[in-house]
Amino acid sequence: MRTHYCGQLRANHIGETVTLFGWADRRRDHGGVVFIDLRDRTGIVQIVSDPERTPDSYKIADQLRNEYVVKVVGRASRRPPESLNPKLPTGEVEIYADSIELLNAVRGQLPFQVSTADTEPVREDLRLRYRYLDLRRERMAKNLQIRHRIIQAIRRFLEDQEGFIEVETPILTRSTPEGARDFLVPSRVNPGEFFALPQSPQLFKQLLMVSGVDRYYQIARCFRDEDLRADRQPEFTQLDMEMSFMGQDEILDLNEALMAHVFKAIKGIDLPRPFPRLTYAEAMDRYGSDKPDTRYGLELADVSDVLKDSGFKVFSGAVKSGGIIKILPIPGGNEIISNVRIKPGGDLFKIAADAGAKGLAYIRVRDGGEIDTIGAIKDNLTPEQTQEIVSRTGAEPGTLLLFGAGLQEVVNASLDRLRQAIAREMKLIPEDKVNLLWITDFPMFEWNADEQRLEALHHPFTAPHPDDVADLKTARAVAYDLVFNGYELGGGSLRIYQPDIQQQVFDTIGLDEAEARDKFGFLLEAFEYGTPPHGGIAYGIDRLVMLLAGEESIRDAIAFPKTQQARCLLTNAPSGVEEKQLKELYVASTYEPPNEET
Ligand code: AMO
Repeated sequence: MRTHYCGQLRANHIGETVTLFGWADRRRDHGGVVFIDLRDRTGIVQIVSDPERTPDSYKIADQLRNEYVVKVVGRASRRPPESLNPKLPTGEVEIYADSIELLNAVRGQLPFQVSTADTEPVREDLRLRYRYLDLRRERMAKNLQIRHRIIQAIRRFLEDQEGFIEVETPILTRSTPEGARDFLVPSRVNPGEFFALPQSPQLFKQLLMVSGVDRYYQIARCFRDEDLRADRQPEFTQLDMEMSFMGQDEILDLNEALMAHVFKAIKGIDLPRPFPRLTYAEAMDRYGSDKPDTRYGLELADVSDVLKDSGFKVFSGAVKSGGIIKILPIPGGNEIISNVRIKPGGDLFKIAADAGAKGLAYIRVRDGGEIDTIGAIKDNLTPEQTQEIVSRTGAEPGTLLLFGAGLQEVVNASLDRLRQAIAREMKLIPEDKVNLLWITDFPMFEWNADEQRLEALHHPFTAPHPDDVADLKTARAVAYDLVFNGYELGGGSLRIYQPDIQQQVFDTIGLDEAEARDKFGFLLEAFEYGTPPHGGIAYGIDRLVMLLAGEESIRDAIAFPKTQQARCLLTNAPSGVEEKQLKELYVASTYEPPNEET
């Protein structure tokens, strides 16, 4: 029987006989004395064996290699002064091994060193291919623990303090309206028909409100077939919640208490409440983003009205064709950002161009309020315009002003990206500051240029703002996102529960009645039978873990993630299947491998 975990041993255990199980992290031989770092999921403790004091274990100790699995029985002793290790929680203790039993060896070569003593970075494809070894390492073992503790804290708060119950919803279901592509599963018993994996439990959680569940939550697996990014996975986990008879303020308040509980449990910090709130319009105006990182300034200034009639055609043309002109002011920017970097070919120019910008006009503010820029801009600026630009941006000598002029989306997206890149470069981001804020009043709809129609920005069950129901096309929604240090952590809304408003929303997005019945008939029908006002929210658990663990990739928050190419390198999924299976499912592939020669 195990008496202790390795990482738990402290000075107060000295004198006890302990039984430990674990992996040999490292073995060192110091002139006939063998030291083994024994590791389990709690950490490492030093095992000692030599021919004199522990003759029974020495032979095996001498044969151990990295990652062999052993049982050790021994005496916990105080380390001699010269080998105390203050960096290790167990650093005062070593175990004299009376016996070591080899439970299993490693056959062949380890693909990489597991030992925490080895700080060499390991290639991510190797880590994912041998994920079980990677998960033995301190960093990933810690991330798994953090993930577990976050979910534990969520459950404690929602269940024990707030009376939520967890209800599981189906994985084999119908398409859910979150706007990504579905993963489909062919039905063998219903030839020619398909299940969709849920993009979220949205429709079921609303049905649960009709059922009177009142406060629902679920740690829910969701599936979205979309292009991957550092903070996206095709299969991810949400904390999904829905509540009846609560308005937006009550929902946000409860969610702030939830987040405060989680941050206290994991980070030991007290989050200041209430969290700041910005409307979507204000966030877009000041930061060009609906998920702004407000740990630093660099706020944008709109100067469309000042420059709309400018003789510099890039400016006036932008406004004439319905666009805007905005400035990203960078205090001290003159010194660190050269013209080369903001002209075609430069790194900052490229960031703007990747977001769709055609150019990156600039003004440098010099001592005495003089400005420095290209002739075409300077010659067309009146002293009043210059004055207004300087005052709106708060520019001082040394400030660099970067301009975005064009379509609103492009200007915002390019200045947002530049703002982030420059803040990183200038080290303006206080790394240990936690910044949680709500973005509220999202628009109901956005224009889908490809399909030439409005589509729901959130999903078509989001309630319009009561003040805006007269014209739904431009209405704000009662929808909110929680943003954490510039990442969208969660989002939700109050839902429509009146059939007439639901019908208007379907009309606005061009979903005719037959189509609406076909897609969501079961929900609309349920709404006929006494539906409480309700609303909810869902958080990305993987993102929360990533951010609280201080990781930059969502893959480091998930035990067995997919690669950027949506593959599992460990199991080598997805994979081909046998013809027989496809036949049974009435499925045939139309895929033709590209011709190698062309
Ligand atoms: P939404 O689509 O905003 O809302 O998703 C909620 C949160 O889930 C996380 N998330 C993801 N995480 C990892 N990989 C992905 N591909 C991914 N997609 C989303 C984000 C996001 O904020 N049903 C609604 C919620 C509601 O209205 O209650 C929904 O799913 O952190």
